[in-house]
Amino acid sequence: MSRIEKYNPHKQSSASRRIQAAKGNYSGRGALIRELTFDDIKRDAIGFGLATDVLHQLNAGKEASIYLATWREHPIILKAYRMHQSCHRISKKHGYSSAASAKRTHNVLAMMEDLAVKEFDLLMKCFRAGMHVPTPVGRVGQYLTMRFIGDVTAPAPQIRNVELQEPSRALDQILDDYLVMYRDVNYVHGDLSEYNILWWEDRPWIIDVPQAEPVDKHCDMMRIEAVLRRDLQNLLGFFENYHVYRDLEQILNVFLSAYIPDNQKHYRELRVRGEIV
Ligand SMILES: Nc1ncnc2c1ncn2[C@@H]1O[C@H](COP(=O)(O)OP(=O)(O)OP(=O)(O)O)[C@@H](O)[C@H]1O
Ligand SMILES: [Mg+2]
Repeated sequence: MSRIEKYNPHKQSSASRRIQAAKGNYSGRGALIRELTFDDIKRDAIGFGLATDVLHQLNAGKEASIYLATWREHPIILKAYRMHQSCHRISKKHGYSSAASAKRTHNVLAMMEDLAVKEFDLLMKCFRAGMHVPTPVGRVGQYLTMRFIGDVTAPAPQIRNVELQEPSRALDQILDDYLVMYRDVNYVHGDLSEYNILWWEDRPWIIDVPQAEPVDKHCDMMRIEAVLRRDLQNLLGFFENYHVYRDLEQILNVFLSAYIPDNQKHYRELRVRGEIV
């Protein structure tokens, strides 16, 4: 995973942690952090040079919030990865901890930043490979900006909220793009569904890639196949509402015959013979 730029303005350096600890402000390595408000996010985004204004929140997902922002007069999307107050607690001694597992979550800021890095890098790879994804623009810390799919009147709708005129063509376009992601970028999306595909300018746009998994010599190809199958199943299931039926196994085979990492070509036979676990 590459870092576009390593500096996370929210993360304290070890030196400043030591200074704070010496002052008795807190102990342990965890920084005291809290859920960011809209004003915090707006100030950060402008201060970090990611946007010239942040207008309003569009969506609050599982791990990130989406804001409509502007760069000069151009609308852009600002995605801010954040914590979940409900399932974590902050302890003065241990920093930020998962309440559910009561396990220390050492560096939540770094975790959020990793997700933003991953999304930025992967969007860039997908964009360069020719997929229809929002063009990534910038990233600092746990924030990233990307092209706003939509226009002044409204953001592009999710495909589930559109009455498709040519559903079979739309499905082909999505499958073509997903094949590029799998074969050329070597990732499975991992959350492909009618929620993560927008419809704009008469075509689909795939979004929300941070949970994607690499398909490389280190991957568990059985797992990759299962993730790919689930993504395709979700997609084909959605298009069945339009009475468009496709053969899942056939499409899966098109993907798998287009690319399997060299050292994984025989993963099915090896799994059957019990030579890999
Ligand atoms: N580039 C974009 N242009 C326009 N709208 C966008 C863009 N990115 C995201 N959105 C809007 O915000 C919603 C949530 O985005 P995304 O799926 O990336 O975030 P998320 O936090 O992972 O959400 P969830 O957990 O609900 O999947 C999208 O369904 C879409 O409506
Ligand atoms: Mg999403």
